[in-house]
Amino acid sequence: MTKAAGTRAPGGGELLVHGLAQLVDPRGPTSAPLSIVEDAFVWVRDGEMAVTGPMIDLPAEAARLLGDGEDPRVFDGAGCIALPGLVDSHTHAVFGAGREHEFERRLAGSTYAEIAAAGGGILFSVRDLRARGEDELVELSRPRIAEFARLGVTTVEVKSGYGLTVEDELKTLRAIRRLSEEEDLPRLVPTFLGAHAIPAECAADRESYVRLVIDEMLPAVVEEQLAAFCDVFCEEGAFTLAESERILERAGEMGLGLKIHAEEFTPLGGAGLAARLGATSADHLVAIDDRGIAALAASATVATLLPGTSLFLKLGRHAPGRALADAGATLAVATDFNPGSSMSQNLPLMVPLACLNLGLTIPEAVRAVTRGGALAVGRPELGSFDAGLPGDVAVFETPDVRNLAYHYGVPRAVLVAREGRPLWRTETRSSRSRTALLS
Ligand code: NIG
Ligand code: FE
Repeated sequence: MTKAAGTRAPGGGELLVHGLAQLVDPRGPTSAPLSIVEDAFVWVRDGEMAVTGPMIDLPAEAARLLGDGEDPRVFDGAGCIALPGLVDSHTHAVFGAGREHEFERRLAGSTYAEIAAAGGGILFSVRDLRARGEDELVELSRPRIAEFARLGVTTVEVKSGYGLTVEDELKTLRAIRRLSEEEDLPRLVPTFLGAHAIPAECAADRESYVRLVIDEMLPAVVEEQLAAFCDVFCEEGAFTLAESERILERAGEMGLGLKIHAEEFTPLGGAGLAARLGATSADHLVAIDDRGIAALAASATVATLLPGTSLFLKLGRHAPGRALADAGATLAVATDFNPGSSMSQNLPLMVPLACLNLGLTIPEAVRAVTRGGALAVGRPELGSFDAGLPGDVAVFETPDVRNLAYHYGVPRAVLVAREGRPLWRTETRSSRSRTALLS
């Protein structure tokens, strides 16, 4: 695979989170129980996971950090749980204006497809993005991406796909690269989605656009090493199965990892194509049929479920998460953060939605936003507490991991660290009440 853009400079931080109510390790197969250690610590050194375990096993060297006074490397995890940093494996986080006006129209009864057919939807965002410069995209996207960290997310996949010309796709991917070089943001995984829609200027000659993607965009993206993945929106009104196959096949030959927006509304067979091409993930899957489920279950392709999108689009149906899990597919759950079909960076909120609407168990959903997300972005070293792996940690203020689903939308991320360096940190209630008692 082509080297991902914006690889981080070596050297990370040191961090000790102690006294955690639970340390939650999501490794293991899709439906296995989570491994939970109570009264636990996690110690990150030089940006890498060093040791985790129960407090009675805290190494002397780590215990020294607990010495006197406040040490910025130390965090009191009383009443909290720790997970590996969450991985959002499907977003369209670089865009210009929001689409509040379309949301209001949808609340009044218009459908996503009707709005798209009238020139709104993705094509609204395309016209908007084309009118903006690279610097402006960076400035607009920075706070949107920073928001992920405040919610517990340390890695975010970001797609292009609102440019749809060679220059506008490159502009988007260059903006993603610049943001990926900022160390106080989550790590970014860039995906080229030139095949997101047929732009208006090619509407009369769709083949000319498919050729542009294959012959001009892909070589330019690969030449500048701007993307780790190529994605295609395989859907009626977007790209056919045959067009998707041509684009993904060429992208694979050029060394990119593969992703596909498959069976979001119509079962065109994108999931089977993903399995056949060895794609890293097949995403959406609301309309997937039994053959598609069987194909994904028999492959290493991660089934990425986006429960926020079916909610936000008022689809009234949801991806068959339960059937995919029972068939043995590897699952990721992501936000699909974008201005049209899922305007939220709240990956923790996708946990209860995946449980309530898609039929996942709590361990399945928690694993899907950590370990599953890591696999869906081709970064198996993430989403785990194994020693020597990147020290990405998310601490939530709740004493029981089940509350991420049960107490839905409420447990706050209080410490979020990327390779041992806090991206986000806030006082917990227990530290606040201790301060109040002392004063
Ligand atoms: O994943 N399905 C296609 N693309 C996006 C929607 C993008 C938009 O509406 O701007 C999605 O839902
Ligand atoms: Fe998407």
